[in-house]
Amino acid sequence: MAGNTLRDKVAVVGGGEKNLGGLVSRTFAEAGAKVVVHYHSSESEAGQTVKAIEEAGGQAVSVQGDLTKVADVRRLFDTAVDTYGGADIAVNTTGMVLRKPILETTEEEYDRMFGVNAKAAYFFIQEAGRRLNDHGKIISLGTSLLAAFTDGYSTYAGGKAPLEHFTRAAAKEFAERGISVNTVAPGPMDTPFFYGQETPERVEFHKSQAMGNQLTQIEDIVPVIRFLATEGWWFTGQTMFPNGGYTTR
Ligand SMILES: NC(=O)c1ccc[n+]([C@@H]2O[C@H](COP(=O)([O-])OP(=O)(O)OC[C@H]3O[C@@H](n4cnc5c(N)ncnc54)[C@H](OP(=O)(O)O)[C@@H]3O)[C@@H](O)[C@H]2O)c1
Repeated sequence: MAGNTLRDKVAVVGGGEKNLGGLVSRTFAEAGAKVVVHYHSSESEAGQTVKAIEEAGGQAVSVQGDLTKVADVRRLFDTAVDTYGGADIAVNTTGMVLRKPILETTEEEYDRMFGVNAKAAYFFIQEAGRRLNDHGKIISLGTSLLAAFTDGYSTYAGGKAPLEHFTRAAAKEFAERGISVNTVAPGPMDTPFFYGQETPERVEFHKSQAMGNQLTQIEDIVPVIRFLATEGWWFTGQTMFPNGGYTTR
């Protein structure tokens, strides 16, 4: 399909200030997209990301929001419409991780985990479906744990698991308008998000289980997201598990 480039597109990036989302924001802007950089608590990182984009000649605006609140999700898309006249691409990189045995998990932890990983993801997809222009692209971040048989991550993997169903349903429901909806599910990724839950021994274990004995880098995942936002438009309703190869890097 012609026109599937990032040039002059408007991208809303949930968690677009740092780590994976920060690199999505900068990469999309370098390719000519105007970016709405959402952040939750990291105002200074959001400012740095917007500044870096502007210094490179791109356009970006930051907006704060707790995406477990539907009104904040809506405000994110309002910002895209008010600032740039609409939105074409919505990437949601927000998430929250917890490694804890089921027997020790509190009600408050369960609610917080499902609030960010499931509820925020759902209403982000809903609002994107309402607000994106025809032929828009919606991309959510899952985790390779969706395909794992493991302990400790019940509320994280369990909280992200509904994403696959949200994605499939939205892909069908938004197809009439040519909007594609996908989930990208990386393995353990080399960001502070991962290390907070793991011991050095378990980090080595995760590396040993990965292709090429290495953690995923954010630079490995951004091209997958970019592909889905451009030439990969023929994919919809899918969960992609980018997993590296023996000859990577
Ligand atoms: N790192 C890994 O090992 C790994 C592996 C597979 C998949 N993933 C997924 O990849 C995505 C990006 O992860 P990352 O490693 O780049 O870490 P990250 O930068 O910490 O990404 C998580 C983002 O979610 C935001 N967030 C948390 N609670 C929120 C809320 N209530 N409202 C709005 N935003 C909220 C965080 O903001 P604050 O920090 O300000 O709260 C942060 O921007 C996540 O969805 C994660 O589940 C990560």
